[in-house]
Amino acid sequence: MNNDNYATWLEIDLNAITHNYQQLRKISGVPVMGVVKANAYGHGLEEIARHLETIGASWLGVARIEEALQLRESGVKLPILVLGYTSHKRVKDAQKANIHLTVYDPLVAELYEKEVDAEYGKLHLHAKIDTGMGRLGVPSNQALPFIENLTRVPAFDLEGTFTHFACADEPEKEVTAQQIRRFENIVGKMKEKGINPGIMHAANSAGTLNFPQAHYNMVRCGIAIYGLPPAANMSLPQGFKPALSWKTRLISIKSMSEGFGISYGHRYHTKEGERIGAIAVGYGDGMRRVNGNHVLLRGKKVPVVGSVCMDQCLINIDEVPDAQVGDEVALIGMQNGNALSATDLAQDWNTINYEVICGMAARMPRRYIR
Ligand SMILES: Cc1ncc(COP(=O)(O)O)c(C=O)c1O
Repeated sequence: MNNDNYATWLEIDLNAITHNYQQLRKISGVPVMGVVKANAYGHGLEEIARHLETIGASWLGVARIEEALQLRESGVKLPILVLGYTSHKRVKDAQKANIHLTVYDPLVAELYEKEVDAEYGKLHLHAKIDTGMGRLGVPSNQALPFIENLTRVPAFDLEGTFTHFACADEPEKEVTAQQIRRFENIVGKMKEKGINPGIMHAANSAGTLNFPQAHYNMVRCGIAIYGLPPAANMSLPQGFKPALSWKTRLISIKSMSEGFGISYGHRYHTKEGERIGAIAVGYGDGMRRVNGNHVLLRGKKVPVVGSVCMDQCLINIDEVPDAQVGDEVALIGMQNGNALSATDLAQDWNTINYEVICGMAARMPRRYIR
């Protein structure tokens, strides 16, 4: 792919993904599930999954069965766990494609039991326990009978038992230690009853880095594989590298007259002689229509001015007198030694880096660097 052809595009450094993945493998000492839901956090589902398979990942995690089926169709052979909801109507699809499902509720288990078809072998399930997230998962105090019932269904294979941390990025809080105690308590009781919990897993990226006692048999990492810290107050250990850069081009330069209203709503008026550049990126690509955006041009951080449009926005380039039409502009990435990260962008957008990268529009070409 020649990026001269594109208005705006993403560059994804697969070597960074390899390096980050291997670091997590080393830090945890257990298999690392590569979490590739939401289009691999914007990085491209199939390419990232195939790459993780190539570098020896043992599991993939997705949120929707549609994502898992897409991966199977693209030839990915790794075990795939759907971490979220799957309609009982998709149980046979899961069996046929050897996709592993999460079961988090007795009602879901009942519906799955009705749909499971022995012709396609057992349905592989991971039981999810709510130890303190308050989202999906059977409450801790109901987990044991729930799991006992699962083991009574001959067509079910209880392959794993897991939980999810709510505050692993804040290790000073007591809540994760409490979640760990609850999880281990349930698993202990399962073992007393002769029930094998299978693969025990709990830690996301923050849990992997902050709670070594919760690595168990596998960790589930997303954000750190992509080289980003799980929270603005956390930094990744030395050597992790962001994989994604977001680029566009300067496509027009104009010298404006005093008081010229620019872009929709004329929310910005120029000064006499102000140099305004147009760049080929907008909210249709995942940019936000908020004040306070910045980009890098010739290594300098310059402000976006006026309303962000669907396919373009405008920047003040007074500080970059040598700027020329055709210059590369970075929304995320390095330029001449200066960097703008997804975490910086998240700060401008009053959100978290996860939301920034998951919001990268499908229409943007993704260029993979090997
Ligand atoms: C159940 C589950 N496990 C693991 C992850 C990966 O989390 P992170 O990207 O923080 O590593 C997620 C992501 O939200 C998740 O929902």
